[in-house]
Amino acid sequence: MLRPDLTRARELLAAAARVVVLTGAGVSAESGVPTFRGAGGLWKQFRPEDLATPEAFARDPRLVWEWYGWRRALVAQCRPNPAHLAIARWMRAQAGVTLVTQNVDDLHERAAEDPAVVSTPLAAPLEGRFLKLHGSLFRSKCTRCTHVAEHRERVDASSADTLPRCPSCGALLRPDVVWFGEMLPPGATRAAFAAAGRAQACLVVGTKGAVYPAAGVAHEAQAAGAAVIVVDPGETDYDAMADVRLVGAAGEVVPAILEGC
Ligand code: OAD
Repeated sequence: MLRPDLTRARELLAAAARVVVLTGAGVSAESGVPTFRGAGGLWKQFRPEDLATPEAFARDPRLVWEWYGWRRALVAQCRPNPAHLAIARWMRAQAGVTLVTQNVDDLHERAAEDPAVVSTPLAAPLEGRFLKLHGSLFRSKCTRCTHVAEHRERVDASSADTLPRCPSCGALLRPDVVWFGEMLPPGATRAAFAAAGRAQACLVVGTKGAVYPAAGVAHEAQAAGAAVIVVDPGETDYDAMADVRLVGAAGEVVPAILEGC
């Protein structure tokens, strides 16, 4: 028999023509990607001010590239888990679903290309319904000019001289991720808040909800009248506002909710 909270979550999602899904590091935890704040979280082992600020990069670009190179290699070995796959399938089947992720890994993208997912008929183009608020580990941008490109090659961070350089102007490249103190990408952020403002339900998966403005997507949705469903095995900053709280791992709970929605 289904848990009553699971049934309620399904009902709320099935009744909503427009849904915004907000994901964080927890959705990728079962794939083997570390989260930031929990036990074993990245910010428990590393200081963000040494690795994830523009000042840190200006001070020691080699160290920052070494850390991002390590994260890129780690994510490259991971596979999308049942939560990524269920969300990707659901987005193909339901035209009104927009995904907003804070994750810089590429597991949502890889799930969308999975043969088990692409066999789901596409109800509407995915373009514009897939929004990344904190950038991508697998894109780099120039520290001087406007060059931005996908960048998957291994980075040699053994010395400052071997770091990747811009093919257009020769300046240092940096990871195209949002660091502390930096603006979020304006287009994706505008689209995310617009989708939240139109949503009738908001499914929040695997994010503590502590980092703004991204965390504000769920608040914006609720202010617009959306029901908020939170999937997380731990406590989050959304717990008090959630209409339904499903305590459990994304890989188990998300497919169980979305099946048949
Ligand atoms: P956090 O590490 O703050 O939160 C991860 C959440 O995932 C926690 O609530 C965990 O309980 C939950 N979690 C752990 N395992 C899970 C599982 N198997 N299934 C579902 N949930 C699980 O990560 P975020 O909220 O994503 O920003 O962090 C937000 C931002 O803070 C990141 O994007 C990053 C970081 O600093 C930047 O780098 C700009």
